[in-house]
Amino acid sequence: MFNQSLPNHKIIWLNETESTNLYANSILKENPADETAIVAAFQTKGKGQHTNSWVSDAGKNILMSRIVYPVFLKPDEIFFLNKVVTKAILDFLQTEFSISAKIKWPNDIYVGDKKIAGILIENAVMGSHIKHAIIGIGLNINQENFGELLKQKCTSVKLISGKEFIVNESVIQLLHHLHNCYEMLIGKRFQALTDFYLKHLYRLNESRFFKVDFEKVEGTIVGVNHKGKLIVLIDGEFKTFMNKEIEYLIHDSN
Ligand code: BTN
Repeated sequence: MFNQSLPNHKIIWLNETESTNLYANSILKENPADETAIVAAFQTKGKGQHTNSWVSDAGKNILMSRIVYPVFLKPDEIFFLNKVVTKAILDFLQTEFSISAKIKWPNDIYVGDKKIAGILIENAVMGSHIKHAIIGIGLNINQENFGELLKQKCTSVKLISGKEFIVNESVIQLLHHLHNCYEMLIGKRFQALTDFYLKHLYRLNESRFFKVDFEKVEGTIVGVNHKGKLIVLIDGEFKTFMNKEIEYLIHDSN
């Protein structure tokens, strides 16, 4: 446990909003400080990756967006932001709840074979640098029911630990870990971030089945390149994939 105060952070607490990422985007014109976070108890139009939505019961989970200005990063270094956020979530789960999680490339956090958190980073590039980024995090804390469709695929801190937690306290803790990991980026500790990322990559070095171009293939994840593409060894050949070009076959319904 650490001191609950977060120096310099400005947290905007909302009961309800369309999406905290959209809210963060709407206040960018007011030049919010680097340590600004938007937290909502409920989202009416929560955004997931691509055209997916993010649905979460009111008041049960972390729904948060943090604004950052990684102007020191070049556009081709943007994947480091993903490494920062995934490390922050893993540190948070391990330190605060003793939960060991994995990074399911590119934007999910898994415990076992179930998703506990999703990440949506939206960034704006200006010239040769990143102007700003909105880091959106949805992390399941107290939700126990995910509906028939998702119950095999999703989990929460409560389902794992059997205990209920105060979501707003968890938000402060997560922001604390995010701050520490972002400091690693400012300090250009690229290798440490990459080492952590690879060490905690879901299904690294395991021979598994995937779907590529509608076909089931067997392959082994061997890493992620500097652009954030997944490297998979398939039939003796190293192939790289962008998000959505490869699908993990995890559950029976895949
Ligand atoms: C995904 O797994 O598809 C990414 C989910 C990201 C959800 C979070 S919840 C807080 C923030 N606001 C949004 O509308 N989306 C992100």
